[in-house]
Amino acid sequence: MSITKSLFDTYNGEEIYSYTMTNKNGSSVTVLDFGGTINRLFVPDRNGKLADIICGFDRVEDYVTDASNYSGAIVGRYANRMSNGGFTIDGKRYDVENNDGGVCHLHGGVKGFSRRKWQGEGICGNGSDSVTMRLFSPDGEDGYPGNLNVCVTYTFDDNNTLTIHYEAVTDKDTVLNMTSHGYYNLSGYDGGCILDKELYVNADKYDVPNSHNIPEDEPHSVEGTKFDFREMKKIEVACDHNFVLNSDRGDAPAAELYDESTGRVIKLYTDYPALQIYTAEFMNGKTNFKGDIPQRPFHAICLETQYSPDTPNRPYMPSCVLKAGEKYDKTARFVFSVR
Ligand code: GLA
Repeated sequence: MSITKSLFDTYNGEEIYSYTMTNKNGSSVTVLDFGGTINRLFVPDRNGKLADIICGFDRVEDYVTDASNYSGAIVGRYANRMSNGGFTIDGKRYDVENNDGGVCHLHGGVKGFSRRKWQGEGICGNGSDSVTMRLFSPDGEDGYPGNLNVCVTYTFDDNNTLTIHYEAVTDKDTVLNMTSHGYYNLSGYDGGCILDKELYVNADKYDVPNSHNIPEDEPHSVEGTKFDFREMKKIEVACDHNFVLNSDRGDAPAAELYDESTGRVIKLYTDYPALQIYTAEFMNGKTNFKGDIPQRPFHAICLETQYSPDTPNRPYMPSCVLKAGEKYDKTARFVFSVR
């Protein structure tokens, strides 16, 4: 394994660095200290040919122009949507901004975690390397309570496994839901529409969104719907839905994505209770991806491990409250292989 740190760009007078972890197979992951963003991810196909399977940009300015897509970034404090313009903890009301068309709160609000500089550090290990990204979010930022210290660690190893470990501590009870908003295309990020890729999701239930993309009530059964991915099948359908992961799945993955044309596979493991599958229908920005590749809807898929949308206002869902002094500790593990 090796790890290199390079100057990626400058933005607003700040130097933005990239950290690249390369394993013995030549596979690599590049993470930026802007947004804690995954910028490149090279893994082999069934013939050993490497391709970059993550959508990203060549310049920080492009990430900023394209901010509404959260390309590759860490999202927080509350990833996904929240209704009612806020939430209540122990009887105290906290207001957040309805930054999604004025109707709900999305991906942590106006400031959020995704478009700012984090403090990066590369750490060499034995058979794996890590990049740690740290961020301080002060009490009241974007309306959320508590001084919050966040640490997200990306670890990449010789088995082509990328682990994202989310940690945080707060000095006041708060809500927290961090995810990684990577746009994957297993044919390569310039590889065309992903609706023909095959998907498995270990979920009997999913949220049916209302017209504002907020779950309308308690999760519904996937049985008999086009969102039943309990047997691997071609995606085929536009999806921006939250799946409630089966808690009794043992060692089975939470989800699996397979590309027949290249043989590439992602197996995803997590201790988050839910997974948003988003087939990138809004990926239509004018900003071109690396190497001047145009954006097109449905040309990537996001596998966003998380708490379910609007959990702060849905007492029947697993709680996303982080208590003062306790540690937020969640993991998503992306295992890349071929078939
Ligand atoms: C999430 C949401 C989508 C969209 C994207 C970002 O995945 O579910 O509706 O907002 O983020 O563009």
